[in-house]
Amino acid sequence: MLYNFYSMAIIGLDAHEIRVEVDISNGLPKTTVVGLPDKAVNESKERIFSALSNSGFEYPCKKVTINLAPGDLRKEGSLYDLPIATGIISAMEYIEVQKDKKFYLAGELSLDGLVRKTNGILSMASKIAKIPNAVFILPYENKDEALLAENITIYPVKTLYEAVEALKGEIEPIKSKTGREIFSEESTKYDVDFADVKGQKLAKRAIETAASGNHNLLMIGPPGSGKTMLARRIPTILPPMTYDEAFEVTKIYSVKGLLPKNSSIIRERPFRSPHHSLSYAGLIGGGSIPTPGEISFAHRGVLFLDELPEFERNILEMLRQPLEDGKVLISRVKNSISFPASFMLIAAMNPCPCGYYGDPTKKCECSPLRIKKYMSKISGPILDRIDINTEVARPESKYFSSTEKEESSEEIRKRVEECRDIQITRFKKEKFKYNSEIPAGLLSKVCKTTSLGEKLLYKTMDSLGFTARAYGRILRLARTLADMEKKEIIDDNHIAEAIQYRIHDRKYF
Ligand SMILES: Nc1ncnc2c1ncn2[C@@H]1O[C@H](COP(=O)(O)OP(=O)(O)O)[C@@H](O)[C@H]1O
Ligand SMILES: [Mg+2]
Ligand SMILES: [Zn+2]
Repeated sequence: MLYNFYSMAIIGLDAHEIRVEVDISNGLPKTTVVGLPDKAVNESKERIFSALSNSGFEYPCKKVTINLAPGDLRKEGSLYDLPIATGIISAMEYIEVQKDKKFYLAGELSLDGLVRKTNGILSMASKIAKIPNAVFILPYENKDEALLAENITIYPVKTLYEAVEALKGEIEPIKSKTGREIFSEESTKYDVDFADVKGQKLAKRAIETAASGNHNLLMIGPPGSGKTMLARRIPTILPPMTYDEAFEVTKIYSVKGLLPKNSSIIRERPFRSPHHSLSYAGLIGGGSIPTPGEISFAHRGVLFLDELPEFERNILEMLRQPLEDGKVLISRVKNSISFPASFMLIAAMNPCPCGYYGDPTKKCECSPLRIKKYMSKISGPILDRIDINTEVARPESKYFSSTEKEESSEEIRKRVEECRDIQITRFKKEKFKYNSEIPAGLLSKVCKTTSLGEKLLYKTMDSLGFTARAYGRILRLARTLADMEKKEIIDDNHIAEAIQYRIHDRKYF
């Protein structure tokens, strides 16, 4: 007899329907699986055979043909254990399956018949939720993740036996609240706060400016000056994520199986700090069935590249496209897959290999040639995407004993949100939202400057030898500085401060 169940395959972040057909007929006892890679098939057969017998079902002594359709869709083997095993049980007519439902199943089986958690459940659940009469039988451990999809009916199961009970209708399904309901019940909380950072007025100002105009930032300072501490707190001053943003981020983590246990929707903006030794695929994304990398885990949040010159040049080059487009394209012979990767880039570096160049307390031991080589490791194209450079000096000891109260993240965030709202309103007819994205052609229209400001800009450009590109960056930055004061016309103070964030152009690079 022939029996069909359904499952899903994950391509990129999206789930695609798979039909799992099981046909059992008289003939030599042999099991054939079509539609899976060879290696996965053999492992799968072993698990299903044991799981069935250990759950009290006899494996049929007949000709068993299993087809996973469509055949040309790349599939990973283990999650089809559950639909295949239940398909065999149903095709053998061991049980009577509820007729009014369309069953989707996913989950790996252990030899003793337990159902193991699987990746990508949220993408599957969001798709299944939209299909009429569909119900989803899935690993119990993935329950909370599946319930984030709006209006889904699920049977979370711990064993193959429970899955069979679900098919028969002997246990009650669970229906999700809407994700939006869950979202509004909780609030965003970070476990770090800018109030923890003593002093550092200049660095904090640079960071607030970066957050306000969505500019990328490079911090240069000796070890222990607090660069990592500052970077970690940047997500806390960005506006809270909307429901749709949070859902999108949660899906990325789900696909890689990185949601914490008892997970709910991820509502804190991500902070990712990949080490410079991380592989290309680990950072950018990849694999034979492509999965997202660190830049996608930083989506809607902060990607922190500590010790920037240690990163390989070709890896830094690969960041250019996501920095332009907010997504990364992973090319494959058959089809290309794109993952979201819209993040604020925060980079940090020492001023020289030993770390103490320019330090008032400790002598730098690097030769000028070594410093030059160190600086030149950062490619021009990536520096082109970083509007703000700021020096982070080691805090003086008096700050650590100071009892002066520092501003909290919440206070800073309020200003950042106000400033971003000005930009969103100004650019509502454009394809972009923030000052950092103003195209060259629009600069003169949206960056009106006082004549004093203009004079200062041209004078500095000539005397410091800034390029035409630097001109654009200074104007975009000055636009943000003026917006922070709610001023429509950029003046000489804004220009002067913006130039100061570019001075390192000349000094180091
Ligand atoms: N401004 C500061 N206020 C409070 N603590 C600080 C400050 N700067 C540095 N620290 C302390 O010094 C530690 C080292 O700072 P870190 O951010 O790791 O420096 P870096 O990344 O520049 O090497 C921090 O974890 C923190 O405990
Ligand atoms: Mg550090
Ligand atoms: Zn040095």
